[in-house]
Amino acid sequence: MKRIVITGAKGQLGVELIHLLHREYHVFAPTREELDITQKRLVEQYIEDVKPYAIIHSAAFTKVDEAEIDPSMPILVNAVGTRFIATAAERIGARMLYISTDYVFDGAQQSPYAEEDIPSPINVYGLSKLAGEKFVASICSKYSIIRTSWLYGRYKDNFVANVVEMVRQDKKIRMIDDVIGSPTSTKDVAAFIKYLLRIDSHGIYHASNAGSCSRYEFALSIIKMKGIKGTITPCKSEDFPVLARRPKNSVLISRRGMPPMQHWKSALQDYMNGDINEGLKDQMFYESI
Ligand SMILES: NC(=O)c1ccc[n+]([C@@H]2O[C@H](COP(=O)([O-])OP(=O)(O)OC[C@H]3O[C@@H](n4cnc5c(N)ncnc54)[C@H](OP(=O)(O)O)[C@@H]3O)[C@@H](O)[C@H]2O)c1
Repeated sequence: MKRIVITGAKGQLGVELIHLLHREYHVFAPTREELDITQKRLVEQYIEDVKPYAIIHSAAFTKVDEAEIDPSMPILVNAVGTRFIATAAERIGARMLYISTDYVFDGAQQSPYAEEDIPSPINVYGLSKLAGEKFVASICSKYSIIRTSWLYGRYKDNFVANVVEMVRQDKKIRMIDDVIGSPTSTKDVAAFIKYLLRIDSHGIYHASNAGSCSRYEFALSIIKMKGIKGTITPCKSEDFPVLARRPKNSVLISRRGMPPMQHWKSALQDYMNGDINEGLKDQMFYESI
């Protein structure tokens, strides 16, 4: 079996990747406690010891608003940490698959963003992830940058589970209707990454479920598909002041000729058909050293 390293083992996408790939690959998935990616020597040693065929680098500082208060952590984790991983990958000739974000774009474009569109982040998180992309592209000879968006998955609290919970608790819900993106199931991105591992992938790939919506439309679909009753009122982003600016439009499309990803509504239906938040009970398939 080929060896792969997955960083961010406890994250939404990391757990999904471990779940999907552990039968086909010998998976090494260190948690932050086992491998802090901001520690250069530890990263070098770990990658040197495991000598993976590929590294899927999913670990990140993902708290978008906190990043504005103190940019040092997101920059350290998302930019510098990614540089350490990229350098270690290149040293042993491993493939590098870096997970990036729709937040590298400023949202000013009126149409969906494709791979060749020029990034121009408007918040610290987006800036730090873009810096990570630049390191990967300049250091690694065998790399793929996978940009995705608005993730939700089975293994962690997320927007979908939170909306369901709020409705069940009879909370008044207001949702923004003037920011659009592509809600994406971690299951589908993980399947996309599995496909990239099989082919000779290179460069940037956009990997989001097809179609787009606002958070308001997304929340309405969630309660409709779940078959629960609740009132969700639309509002504008100005009504919800947050620290980080978000792109008004961060819809992603791909022009790389890859198998298309399903529409976000059918992905959401798939998710609803399974257990929301079925938990971490069966995630421990990986091996760590
Ligand atoms: N969530 C989204 O909507 C979204 C959208 C677009 C792109 N992305 C990108 O997709 C990837 C996966 O996102 P996600 O939602 O799965 O993120 P997540 O749930 O926040 O998981 C991130 C993981 O990274 C780990 N981590 C943070 N700092 C670390 C460090 N210094 N060393 C080692 N591990 C560290 C965290 O460890 P702890 O568990 O110990 O905190 C966590 O397990 C990220 O690269 C993110 O930028 C996410």
